[in-house]
Amino acid sequence: MSKRIYRMFAVVAPGMEELCLQEAQALNLEDRQLCPGGVSFTGDLHDLYRANLWLRTASRVLVRFAELRATSFPDLFRKAVRLPWGRFIRPDMPVRVRAVSRRSRLIHTRRIEETLGAALDRALGRHAPAEQEKAQLILTRCEDDLCTLSIDSSGALLHRRGYRVNVTAAPLRETLAAGLLMHLGWDGSRPLIDPMCGSGTIPIEGALLALGRAPGSRRSFAFMDWPGYRAGGWRLLVDEADRQSRPHVPTLIGGSDRDAAALAAAHANAERAGLDEQVLLTCRELQDIAVPPRAGLVLCNPPYGARLGRELALDGLYASMGRVFRERLRGWQIGVLTSDPCLAHATGLGLRAGIRFSNGGLPVQLWSARL
Ligand SMILES: C[S@@+](CC[C@H](N)C(=O)[O-])C[C@H]1O[C@@H](n2cnc3c(N)ncnc32)[C@H](O)[C@@H]1O
Repeated sequence: MSKRIYRMFAVVAPGMEELCLQEAQALNLEDRQLCPGGVSFTGDLHDLYRANLWLRTASRVLVRFAELRATSFPDLFRKAVRLPWGRFIRPDMPVRVRAVSRRSRLIHTRRIEETLGAALDRALGRHAPAEQEKAQLILTRCEDDLCTLSIDSSGALLHRRGYRVNVTAAPLRETLAAGLLMHLGWDGSRPLIDPMCGSGTIPIEGALLALGRAPGSRRSFAFMDWPGYRAGGWRLLVDEADRQSRPHVPTLIGGSDRDAAALAAAHANAERAGLDEQVLLTCRELQDIAVPPRAGLVLCNPPYGARLGRELALDGLYASMGRVFRERLRGWQIGVLTSDPCLAHATGLGLRAGIRFSNGGLPVQLWSARL
């Protein structure tokens, strides 16, 4: 595998930067730096594979391919045509170039994209292959006349672990669920329950975390189409990750929901993740939750107005959730993700406002307490 060292960048949803930095540290990725929107680090292709395989909170991993100072389109073309595109792009691989521009003389983003696409085709000595669903994404950011070109190594966003095909209304992103668990210090040694689990994202991500299973071990990545890709090297990494992971979760991980269709989706997702024997999923009302004797973490994202409709009498739901938790979960750590502070206060649990995230474009906040 190539030992060439690249600067790379793990992109995260706003609010997840610190958590991703901790993950990069645990992976021993070098020259780690916290940046707005993610974490940059350096490494070779082996590190790039590891980052894609292991990072639970990142949405994609980019390779910083080149920096070009350009003040005109001919200038950009001339410089871009000299880049070693062949390292990442096979001659038959279509590309999708996306550009943003700020404070630069090149402001017409569409033209930046076309110029780079044309330079790449010239450099590879080809006519652009026809658009296909699968195309290599190239991201370009021009700022103060400096264009930074990045090659996306992930393909489908990393929250798509490959297990969640069945979704219910307003599912939580897998990356966000994992980040919340990590932020709350949950490491699999205490019980975890989600009494409004919908499609099961929180218990499933909890099980992946508790087993130490690599979140990317069951999916494919854009780097697998690069000319230098070595399937054997990737296989070794996945085999090693599988060997390291535990066979059974060490504690109870449970999810429940009153909606039978949501539960069916959660079951299907857990099964696809190979976790149907590791998480206990039950169809039941919030007030009927089964509580294990040992205190742990209850984490949920109840319905919140903007996505599921205000007519759900949400204040009442949050108040009864507060009552159930107070009566049944003494000594437990509580985490509630919601978009509306009034709803968090309606629980009467004295929840404290914590980290803010964005879930599918909607701002949400984690509220927590220990009962
Ligand atoms: C925002 S969704 C949860 C999404 C979930 N985290 C996921 O990733 O799919 C809220 C869930 O709360 C459930 N719910 C609402 N009221 C409930 C109640 N009283 N008892 C149990 N579940 C309830 C809904 O059926 C819905 O699936």
